[in-house]
Amino acid sequence: MAMDTALAVPEAGWEPYPHTAGPPPGWTGPVFQLSVDFPSEPPDDTPPFLSIDFRNDREAYWRAVREYIYEGNINRGVNSAGHSRDWNTQTNHVRTWYNMPWRAWGRNAREFVNGLTREFPAAPGHLDPAQQRTEYTWARAIYNPSAGYTLGQVWNDPGGPPNLAAASFLEGAVVAKLLFTTADTSDVPWVRDAYTWQANTYLDPANCDSLGCPRQIRDVHLYQIDFAIKDSRASETQWVFGTFVHDPTLPGQGFSWDKMVPLGYMWGNDPELTADNPDATPQESVIYGNTHIFEHMGCRERLVGPLDNPSSSCIGCHQNAQYPAKTSPVPPNHPCDAVTNNPWWRNLRSGDVLWPADSVDGVAPRSLDFSMEMRTAVENYHMATRGYTLSADGEMFRLTGSETHQRLARRKH
Ligand code: HEC
Repeated sequence: MAMDTALAVPEAGWEPYPHTAGPPPGWTGPVFQLSVDFPSEPPDDTPPFLSIDFRNDREAYWRAVREYIYEGNINRGVNSAGHSRDWNTQTNHVRTWYNMPWRAWGRNAREFVNGLTREFPAAPGHLDPAQQRTEYTWARAIYNPSAGYTLGQVWNDPGGPPNLAAASFLEGAVVAKLLFTTADTSDVPWVRDAYTWQANTYLDPANCDSLGCPRQIRDVHLYQIDFAIKDSRASETQWVFGTFVHDPTLPGQGFSWDKMVPLGYMWGNDPELTADNPDATPQESVIYGNTHIFEHMGCRERLVGPLDNPSSSCIGCHQNAQYPAKTSPVPPNHPCDAVTNNPWWRNLRSGDVLWPADSVDGVAPRSLDFSMEMRTAVENYHMATRGYTLSADGEMFRLTGSETHQRLARRKH
């Protein structure tokens, strides 16, 4: 059993990074600012790609999505301190993008330089056959005005609990996520020329389970940009999930935002791709075979990015966004398409709950509308305000006063 010592005050949910892990004396680099001045009304901002047919007009679709994520966020020059303004989303002059509250707390709290959180690690061989070291992923998600409106409805009481009844995103909600890797070219050649940030990472990540671990400010390299779009034309799930990856083999010197190219996007989980159907291939996605970097894909060639868990898929994992939850978000049996895993490969309708039996202390699960980051934030709120103990394997937590273990949205490291 382990427990984080300092219980956070509720305001901790609105800090950009933990006050115990801020800039060291003499730090002159950038410092992350949290964007949480959410719109109080549904914004009038229909993204152009909602009228592009994602099934058939594929290139126009991904280009419009990428352009929308980039607009006002890239090539913005430097501020008076000489720091890049790129991805300073609260000062984006086209549209503001927002952040999830309650991520500056706990074992995977935001770091102070760029507001990144530690994500799924990439084991040796996952980013390149010759990769020797486990490489760590650090990421930040940003929410467009429509998605930000929903965040403001859920987190409508700065000191109080989230209102999960409001956790339903509007048509045209867009969430983008920048994923950086600690890999450098000595381990993974594909990070060549990648866009680079600094992050206050952990010195010994494999053995770090708490905020107090020794830190190391180091370079991290942009490897993947994910997106999630609420789109009712995706009739099974109402969501389109996709990812762009850095391709250093494209022509032109050095980094360019044009070198972030689509690996694919998916609007359903292809429930028929099971061991019973060995020859079936994904139908509810577009997968591009033309990115040159090494990629493992997800279960039965469903979509995941190079930095994601290969036993899963974007939608397969994200439809576990519910609170509370007790069931593993990743199919537990091997191989990943074993028929015993079929319940994990369903298509969930937005608003429904994948594991309705996962009640805890008489509280039935509620949908968090495919937002796994919201699930992490909601867990953080309850763990911080009530106190908790962790299971020995670090995968489950039990709130103080509760008899029941709940599952953490994300794995231990
Ligand atoms: C094995 C589970 C898993 C897989 C596979 C996965 N994600 Fe996630 N994703 C998460 C978790 C967990 C978070 C929250 C981050 C955290 O807790 O640190 C997240 C966060 C996100 C976010 C931020 C907003 C939100 O609503 O959670 C986006 C966007 C996203 N993922 C897109 C994708 C895309 C696109 C893919 C596939 C290319 C993908 N994810 C694959 C688990 C997964």
